[in-house]
Amino acid sequence: MSTSHNRIHVMHGVNLDQIGRRDPAHYGGLTFLQLEQAIDAYASELDVNARFFQTNHEGEFVEELHRVADLADAAIINAGAWSHYSRALGDALQFAGVPAVEVHLSDVHAREEWRHVSVLAEGCVATVAGKGVDGYREALAILKAELER
Ligand code: DQA
Repeated sequence: MSTSHNRIHVMHGVNLDQIGRRDPAHYGGLTFLQLEQAIDAYASELDVNARFFQTNHEGEFVEELHRVADLADAAIINAGAWSHYSRALGDALQFAGVPAVEVHLSDVHAREEWRHVSVLAEGCVATVAGKGVDGYREALAILKAELER
């Protein structure tokens, strides 16, 4: 079913724009452009509309969360390292007003202990980690189902 209630804002935070230069064992070796293109292809398959945002500035990410309900119906959030400690993002997510899924390319639970904590999870309907780019497909499917409920 095609619906106009299907705009999913894919929000990437700090250092995600550099994934092509980061450890491929964790991040899979795709460039950021290739990652966004893969997500866009998944979105087309699932008949949802993906839009994209990335910043390395925490305040800009907060401000994007302030306006996300005007831009989209749902959000996928990979906030990078901020996910583990930015209470400011966690607070903003609480009143963002759209359902969100947290995604991590790498298996954060199998990495350093500080990555095991998420200050965003509470504001999300689900978390998908350790599945690489496929994790975004899963997140899109979760949000599509959520929007069709
Ligand atoms: C990440 C995991 C974080 O721990 C890390 O700081 C990142 C990327 C991921 O996608 O696996 O920058 O969010």
